[in-house]
Amino acid sequence: MIDLTGRVALVTGSSRGIGSACALRLAEAGADTVVNYVTSRSAAEEVADQIQSLGRRTAVVKADVSEQEDVVSMIDFVRESFGGLDILVSNAATGGFRPLLATTAQHFEAAMNTNVRALMFLVQAAMPLLKRSEGRAKVIGLSSLGSHLALPMYGLIGSTKAALESIIRHFALEIGDHGINLNVIQAGLVETDSFHQMPNREQLLAHRRAKSMVGDRRLTVRDIADAALYLASPLSDMVQGQTLVLDGGASIHA
Ligand SMILES: NC(=O)c1ccc[n+]([C@@H]2O[C@H](COP(=O)([O-])OP(=O)(O)OC[C@H]3O[C@@H](n4cnc5c(N)ncnc54)[C@H](OP(=O)(O)O)[C@@H]3O)[C@@H](O)[C@H]2O)c1
Repeated sequence: MIDLTGRVALVTGSSRGIGSACALRLAEAGADTVVNYVTSRSAAEEVADQIQSLGRRTAVVKADVSEQEDVVSMIDFVRESFGGLDILVSNAATGGFRPLLATTAQHFEAAMNTNVRALMFLVQAAMPLLKRSEGRAKVIGLSSLGSHLALPMYGLIGSTKAALESIIRHFALEIGDHGINLNVIQAGLVETDSFHQMPNREQLLAHRRAKSMVGDRRLTVRDIADAALYLASPLSDMVQGQTLVLDGGASIHA
């Protein structure tokens, strides 16, 4: 059994969807877990209530991860309230589904700042805490198949995910020797709020299901949270700078 008792985790964008599933999974395994949101305060508080009922320490922090000041304040709060940080899951993302031909400078900036730059500022701010972690500290980024597959209306988000994966690899090169593992979860389609905003979601889902090689089993937020738990645990100490693909094998064949 994976036991994260005594570890402190922060999951960005954990008021809903994949982020909330990851926060709850880490707390179930024993980690004191900080919940971050930007707009959904009551949803974030519900996640924190569930974490507390598991007997873990928790807190809810409003921070827009696209803003460096917010990121720095959030990490300061974690240091002051929890005394350290061992597990950082960079999950929050935005972008919208539209053609690249209709993408503006504002769309581009917002997506890059939230999906890519945030991870850089999070790691920079958290570095003193991650270095002090007992055992290896873990940083996990949430990516998608669109980082390397061309998907309709996904050009902007897909390109941010490609950049995110590259930043994780380069951080592994820069700071891996300081007791920190940095890895990526690359997930297939999961039915969260953002999925329900995709214009062609049913068609995409049917296509991925037809290609999946695990029978009728659908990818769930729990599957992703399980992968996050593995990457947050000592079981993955020798996994460094890697991308773990969770799609039932759909993307490995034509
Ligand atoms: N769903 C999929 O099919 C899928 C597949 C592969 C990868 N992913 C990736 O998995 C991650 C989570 O996706 P999801 O589908 O669970 O998303 P979601 O349901 O849309 O939830 C997004 C979360 O991110 C938070 N957030 C957004 N912008 C933020 C900001 N600037 N600062 C802080 N928090 C912010 C939201 O907070 P509020 O609630 O406060 O707005 C919310 O908690 C993303 O990185 C996504 O790209 C998703």
